[in-house]
Amino acid sequence: MVILGIESSCDETAASIVNNGKILSNSVYTQKIHKKYGGVVPEIASREHEIQIVSVVRDAIEKSKLTIKQIDGIAVTYGPGLMGALLVGLNFAKGLSLSLDIPYIGINHLEGHLYASLIDNKNIKYPFINLLVSGGHTQIWQVNNFGSYDLLGSTVDDAAGEAFDKGARMLGLNYPGGPEIERYSIGGIKDKYIFPRPINKKSKLDFSFSGLKTSLLYLCQNMTNKEIDENINDICASYQEAIVDTLLIRLKHAMVKTKIKTISISGGVAANKRFREKLNKDFSNDSAIFFPPMEYCTDNAAMIALTGEVLLNKDEYSDFSLKPIPNLSL
Ligand code: KG4
Ligand code: ZN
Repeated sequence: MVILGIESSCDETAASIVNNGKILSNSVYTQKIHKKYGGVVPEIASREHEIQIVSVVRDAIEKSKLTIKQIDGIAVTYGPGLMGALLVGLNFAKGLSLSLDIPYIGINHLEGHLYASLIDNKNIKYPFINLLVSGGHTQIWQVNNFGSYDLLGSTVDDAAGEAFDKGARMLGLNYPGGPEIERYSIGGIKDKYIFPRPINKKSKLDFSFSGLKTSLLYLCQNMTNKEIDENINDICASYQEAIVDTLLIRLKHAMVKTKIKTISISGGVAANKRFREKLNKDFSNDSAIFFPPMEYCTDNAAMIALTGEVLLNKDEYSDFSLKPIPNLSL
């Protein structure tokens, strides 16, 4: 089955063609314009999607070496995400579905991220634990089977990606903050500055990053700009280490609680090399760890197309009354 995937939930306009589980193309346009605002501006994101979507979809079809007539179905993100941004992708998919007379299906962006960790890892055994770490979400899921998920823990305030993004902003670094902090951490001393590894007394499986963010704020307030610049590598390395440790501590608790030893990681923060390194070092002795290939950690449409293919193969599709749901959960 040839599926066109479309993703426009935040600041990536993306399209992909998959055929029987194989990714034939994966086109992503990242909206650089948000860098100068230090974060995503929703109205600008919608306008950018509108400008880019036709060429991104064309690019994905061209790179797949197939023609538009060979597409059997369309999968499109309908939530969670920014309302105006989601509308662009969803309405585009509806129009294409009508004009080509093929079915389309709305896909939950989080489910897409979750299954991205299975790309190249098709032999994963259920049940497994998925740690979903993106810019908007930090959640631990028990994945019983395709479509059957139990939420084990989630963040009570910021997501891990947000902790990176907001931290970078405080340090005067660019958006998105994750890759920036990772880059500046190289060669930095990881324990030069002591940041808390937050403990949530109510639940060992929930996350909280606000205390960590506040301690970075206090550190910055007690340093001059010159001192921050001179110590930027050590600050970033120490801050990154605290975020990574927080994620790993919770993951360990989830494994102990469920006795499940197969884990998959997905979402933008899964691209972090220190996180991958530490996870492999601390966990690989007694558990199987699955990561998406780097390009499928951050937002992309291949993960949407792959999830859509499974559903369309089961004759599940959406009708034209489907609306975007900005706060859609898994
Ligand atoms: O999954 P994603 O592309 O979009 C959402 O669905 O939110 O995740 C974006 C988040 C941003 O917060 C970004 O700073 C973070 O993922 N991120 C990273 C890295 N690459 C992206 N965080 C840490 N290290 C990275 N290498
Ligand atoms: Zn995402």
